[in-house]
Amino acid sequence: MKKIAFLFSFISIYSFAQQTAKPTGLVATKAMVVSARQEASKVGLEIIQKGGNAFDAMVGTELALAVAFPFAGNIGGGGFMVYRKANGEVGSLDYREKAPLAATKDMFLDKDGNVIKGKSTQTALAIGVPGTIAGVFAVHKKLGSLPMAEILKPVIALAERGVVVTKKQEKNINDYRDAIVKINGDKTPLATLYKENDTIKYPALAKTLKRIAKNGRNEFYKGETAKILVEYLNKKGGIITLQDLAKYEAKWRKPLQFTYKDLKITSMSPPSSGGICLAQIMKMIAPYDLAKMGHNSEESIQIIVEAERRAYADRSQFLGDPDFVKIPINGLLSDVYLKDRMSTFNVNKASLSSEIKEGKVNFNESTETTHYSIIDAQGNAVAATTTLNDGYGSKYYCDELGFFLNNEMDDFSAKPGSPNMFGLVGNEANSIAPQKRMLSSMTPTIVEKNGKLFMVVGSPGGSTIITTVLQAILNVYEYNLSMQEAVNAPRFHHQWLPDLITFEPDAFDKITTDKLKAKGYLINEKTTPVIGKLDCILVLPNNNLEGGADFRGDDTAVGF
Ligand code: GLY
Repeated sequence: MKKIAFLFSFISIYSFAQQTAKPTGLVATKAMVVSARQEASKVGLEIIQKGGNAFDAMVGTELALAVAFPFAGNIGGGGFMVYRKANGEVGSLDYREKAPLAATKDMFLDKDGNVIKGKSTQTALAIGVPGTIAGVFAVHKKLGSLPMAEILKPVIALAERGVVVTKKQEKNINDYRDAIVKINGDKTPLATLYKENDTIKYPALAKTLKRIAKNGRNEFYKGETAKILVEYLNKKGGIITLQDLAKYEAKWRKPLQFTYKDLKITSMSPPSSGGICLAQIMKMIAPYDLAKMGHNSEESIQIIVEAERRAYADRSQFLGDPDFVKIPINGLLSDVYLKDRMSTFNVNKASLSSEIKEGKVNFNESTETTHYSIIDAQGNAVAATTTLNDGYGSKYYCDELGFFLNNEMDDFSAKPGSPNMFGLVGNEANSIAPQKRMLSSMTPTIVEKNGKLFMVVGSPGGSTIITTVLQAILNVYEYNLSMQEAVNAPRFHHQWLPDLITFEPDAFDKITTDKLKAKGYLINEKTTPVIGKLDCILVLPNNNLEGGADFRGDDTAVGF
């Protein structure tokens, strides 16, 4: 993280959002894909190069991430996709996992009503009905242009050819090996002691993808793959049935749109909390001159933290699956309401979360997810965030099918009204019910400026996704950083409860944090992991594209 401090030592608090900064990331003239692995970005770009559009590339990149980045890329999980067509039309797809039909509100509680530690994360009951294959087929049917078999070809070839282990991946597999072996035994592929530059092949996944290429979507939800999966889950004590798979549908949803100064922002609506929270925060900070206050200055951090605190308190109280709970979206986004929320902000003194709102919250998400951004040669844009929840999900890996299963059931509130595994309080709106989708923080986002495509943004990071996406947008728009600088810049986060500001380690100067402490802000002093991992694209004034690929991972922008 010292690298971040170094990278930013030269960035003064000068910027006033008038000029677009000189690009420092990869620049391309026509099309770009930015994702967590170079192999996946390349699959997406090759699809565009051979005449496909951003939606074909989305299908290819999503599935290539399942091969190249099994940590979070998946066919055993789910996600959200926001798009903007070159003609300005926008839309969004929810391919979030669902609770199985046999799920019950109390399924993670003991006979005394207490949460059983690990049951919603490390057992086969943690697995939600996967949505990714339904998602990519829905995108392809509505918006794709190349035949599905053509799109799947390079993905299958990648699984057969294998993926070269990077230094970061070597560490990551080592860190997770014991947990993977505990569930799957030592014969499972990621039980091997891989070293940097080794190649991992995925023949079982290639076979599954070939059947999907031949038989289509129903192969996963009704075909041989479904039967193998259900049999496997049954053996492991899971409750997902053939009926659960057959009933699964991805859902087109109206995206969440709002304005911030002269930006028009399109993001994900519930069951992700991303769009609503981002909108609330941006509307609360809009009256303040952040550019003048300066990037990561004490004043800027204070305003942003106070808005975050208030938005996350509302998230906890009101948000859940809109097919099951009524969410007062208009009220939450009304200017009068948000002005009133900030009226208790005192520039000389930190607000206390306990005074902002008593209530219920759920922050059950882990930090392991993945995002990719795509712009094609016609100007169609895709922002997609996909996840298994934890790193390698539940760690359950079906050897015969070649993929990990999610542990997304942990994103529900296991016991409404009671502290969860992070010491936070859950909420009724996000309680477990059969067929319900668990609340998410995933925030795939597209930004327009003066009616033109401006940015494609997104990140993993559990509850920090929203604040990471926020900072990417503000870094470019308010603080005049290039796209790559905006991604590199050190980040901070506040989520109402716990009442702490978390800073990326060794990246903020002590004078700033001391000033915040003096005003009563509580700082998370523990060593914390990085906050988010952005993969973004900025459209430059001359219509060239600048990629922002996060150095915190193996993330890579490719373009032409
Ligand atoms: N599992 C992380 C999220 O959906 O926000």
